[in-house]
Amino acid sequence: MTAKAAKALFASLAVVMTLSAATLLTSCDRKTPEDNAPMAIVAKTVDPHSYARPQEARVSHVDLDLTADFQTKTLAGTATLTLITEANAKQVILDTRALDIEAVTDASGSPLKFTLGKGNAMMGKPLTIELPQGAQKIVVKYKTTKDGTALQWLSPEQTAGKKLPFLFSQGEEIHTRTWIPTQDSPAIRQTYTARIVVPRDLMAVMSAERLTPEGEKVQGHVGQRAYRFDMKEPVAPYLIALAVGDLGFESEGSRTGVYAEKATLAAAKAEFTDMQAMLEAAEKLYGPYRWGRYDVLVLPPSFPFGGMENPTLTFATPTILAGDKSLVSLIAHELAHSWSGNLVTNATWEDFWLNEGFTVYFESRIMEEVYDKDRADMLRVLGWQDLQATLKDLNDSGKSDFTRLHPDLRNIDPDDYFSDVPYEKGAAFLRMLEAHFGRKKLDAYLKGYFQRFAFQSMTTDAFLVDLRTHLLHNDSDLERQLKIRQWLYDKGMPDNAVAPTSQALNEVSAQILAFMEGTPAKSLSVQGYSSPQWQYFLTHLPDNLSPDQMADLDAVYGFSKSHNSEILFAWLQQAIKHQYQPALPAVREFLLAQGRRKYVVPLYKSLMAQPGWGVTMAKSVYADARPGYHDVTRGTVDDIVK
Ligand code: BES
Ligand code: ZN
Repeated sequence: MTAKAAKALFASLAVVMTLSAATLLTSCDRKTPEDNAPMAIVAKTVDPHSYARPQEARVSHVDLDLTADFQTKTLAGTATLTLITEANAKQVILDTRALDIEAVTDASGSPLKFTLGKGNAMMGKPLTIELPQGAQKIVVKYKTTKDGTALQWLSPEQTAGKKLPFLFSQGEEIHTRTWIPTQDSPAIRQTYTARIVVPRDLMAVMSAERLTPEGEKVQGHVGQRAYRFDMKEPVAPYLIALAVGDLGFESEGSRTGVYAEKATLAAAKAEFTDMQAMLEAAEKLYGPYRWGRYDVLVLPPSFPFGGMENPTLTFATPTILAGDKSLVSLIAHELAHSWSGNLVTNATWEDFWLNEGFTVYFESRIMEEVYDKDRADMLRVLGWQDLQATLKDLNDSGKSDFTRLHPDLRNIDPDDYFSDVPYEKGAAFLRMLEAHFGRKKLDAYLKGYFQRFAFQSMTTDAFLVDLRTHLLHNDSDLERQLKIRQWLYDKGMPDNAVAPTSQALNEVSAQILAFMEGTPAKSLSVQGYSSPQWQYFLTHLPDNLSPDQMADLDAVYGFSKSHNSEILFAWLQQAIKHQYQPALPAVREFLLAQGRRKYVVPLYKSLMAQPGWGVTMAKSVYADARPGYHDVTRGTVDDIVK
């Protein structure tokens, strides 16, 4: 490429590309209006977790034609990518990791030259494809490999039904490149279509319109069925998701419903009857739902997260099926991502708080609308307390950089930054704005924000510019007074954070005190306690209860047998800390029964903190449980249990 052509191509980009992320922080202070528009700032931002060069050639649509082979545990087929290219673009760079690339052709099947770069373990390898003049489509023929981290292939024994296997994908944050060769950056939005061929007794679902609910015949393959999908809105690649299993569907309302293994379907339907009300409450707050249907898919218990906001189809852990709807705030959370995350998306993983912090705030507003303020306040307090503990841990372990909403993640796996900080500090920032401006003004701002940037990606810098324009009205004294820059860019908590309070939880403290002072468990005034109250009760017990006191609690309230996973988890944490032997079989059972990282990781940590018996138990349980865990969970637990 000539110097002149390069200049024309990159325009302002070339200059900015050489700047460090730290320098970019100040880009919003520059003066020319065009430079200072939020979308111009986003366009100049470099994603440190992608090899793509979207200004040169960018993927705008992905068309998948893949066959799932449960024997070899591979997806194989083609990804046909539609490109938007600069006039003189000579190549396109895709992100890949652990993929077996067999061939690359143009739309008519003529081979194209390609090279896989060296790359690294975290980001994978750049796939550089030479483009013929004017090429708009390329076809990548490939297979997934066992080193990929996005797909989990479950044996029948690992499912609820026990008869048929299961497959699901988990793209966030940078795993999509291990099952789809595309530009895996959340700022490079892509529409997608797919045809997925699966064994005839299984159903495939994706985070897109499900065009063939019953599947279709596959010519010449009686043992297979094909399912087709269409996502017409441009989404970040981490939101392309697939699941295959012995699934059924039940409706929850005109726009909502649940998919689950047939063995779990009735429980799922009963748990999520408030979905439609949540959807309507969310729309009332921040504007129309833009994705058509909102369904939830309940996964097998190894799903490493509580939930994942895949568009039109939230993926959820079965550990929220408590039987009494007590853990449905997780659905409110994933639903809220349909605005904060899926509609307006973090442009890089350094802007993750724009997804999660906004969503935690939005989630609590939905809970308040659908249930009541008491319930929402309890959840706010629990979140706040988790955050205080996390901030302390991060500071104590020399990771205070991760107490920032906008961390520097160059050469850092975005998963390492995962903590309560982007969630709860982010939500606390919005609550601080709420306290100052009032709900009416803040809600109007947020609704406008979702409208202004619908189907676009957003950086922290660009958000600040928008906030200045539409909420702060360029009042720089007010910006200083509210410590906005400190919130967005500095470590720790600014002193104008507003701690949430809950009367219902204050009352729990009195009961804990009574118990400590000798009141027997059966005489405590805890009748009708809700899930958050029990969580609070169990997390605030002192460290020095006697075995008799522990036995008394368990005998009266049956914690070791709780069907509420949050309560069970909090109890088991206490059991380990108190070396309370009778509950240790329940610890083992829980660690074997599910692989949700939020539960599994703290429990192994607690065991490892008990020299002798705890370490021995952690190792022996993990040896049995590890094969059933997802890669994401293994990755974290491997570092703990050594
Ligand atoms: N988007 C996240 C899950 C996620 C984050 C997956 C980062 C991979 C990387 C999802 O919305 C989420 O936050 N889930 C929470 C539950 C929520 C109620 C806080 C979880 O899984 O615990
Ligand atoms: Zn979330």
